[in-house]
Amino acid sequence: KKSADPRPPSNYTDLISTLPLEEGWAPICTRKYQGFWIPQRVLPGIMDMQQNFKARPDDLWVLSYPKSGTTWLKALTYAIMTRAQYPFDHHPLLRRNPHECVPFVDRTYSRGQASEIEAMPSPRILNTHLPYSLLPHTIKSLDCKVIYVCRDPKDVLVSRWYFNNGMRPQPVEPIPFTKAFEMFCEDNCPYGPICEHVLEYWEESQRRPEKVLFLKYEEMLEDPLRIVRRLAEFMGCPFSPEEEKEGVVEEVIKLCSFDNLKSLEVNKTGKLHPEFVLTKDSFFRKGEAGDWRNHMSPEMARKLDRIPEQKLEGSGLTL
Ligand code: A3P
Repeated sequence: KKSADPRPPSNYTDLISTLPLEEGWAPICTRKYQGFWIPQRVLPGIMDMQQNFKARPDDLWVLSYPKSGTTWLKALTYAIMTRAQYPFDHHPLLRRNPHECVPFVDRTYSRGQASEIEAMPSPRILNTHLPYSLLPHTIKSLDCKVIYVCRDPKDVLVSRWYFNNGMRPQPVEPIPFTKAFEMFCEDNCPYGPICEHVLEYWEESQRRPEKVLFLKYEEMLEDPLRIVRRLAEFMGCPFSPEEEKEGVVEEVIKLCSFDNLKSLEVNKTGKLHPEFVLTKDSFFRKGEAGDWRNHMSPEMARKLDRIPEQKLEGSGLTL
């Protein structure tokens, strides 16, 4: 059902202007909202979502701290869910970017286009970068399934740095890496602090493992077969013995692989939205674990490692 008219989220502007502001990651400006540095651009949409989002019990949420493997997880969940609908050589993921198959709801709401989300047929796969504590209440009260992916914060920082620099129009200089590093260590990064973000989902996954699946990007790279089977089980559509025999699990992995997605014409050029500075290829950079070694000294790595060690101590989680 389409809503009568798009809700202009501009009525939150006064409140937003009172929140603490950070501009170090320009052109992304963030505001501290309910404990997290949320990009100002999506904040009106998030406030709108928190008040008006209507969850459905069969919604599936793909969640992450940005630059942790969202694009990949979107592709995998979408490919798993739709595998009976399309042959792999004519799959929508060959013609559409994963972000077009699984919408980033924060931005859709910020554009005042909540009706697009409301018009999606069930079951929907939806994505936000919000921490658990900021999720709209109905997602929790309807017990929607949630899949969260986290990643080594050192690689998250490197990935963020490249992504952010791509947003800076010429001739604006890139942010010096040492400055990005310091900001990150001070918990100043879009949707940060990262440890609190990760910890909220980790704790929820321990409390309700049947509803919250917690994944690590590095484990996905290491053993995609196990992870894709686990995803399908969690989503309630496990691979049948026939599918296993026919190699459907391998087909899903191949379709969503970094090399395949990066090579597709649809992911090489063009933008997701006219107002978004970056082109679609910026979501596919290296796709590896450990690129931080090319950007940080061992001392810097140790300094950054100590932060999750301290903040996650006693939780049973290591990053
Ligand atoms: P790098 O910048 O380290 O290469 P997000 O999707 O959350 O924005 O995360 C982006 C990171 O995921 C980028 O990391 C990107 O290259 C990587 N990535 C994108 N698609 C991938 C895929 N299919 N497999 C593995 N990594 C992928």
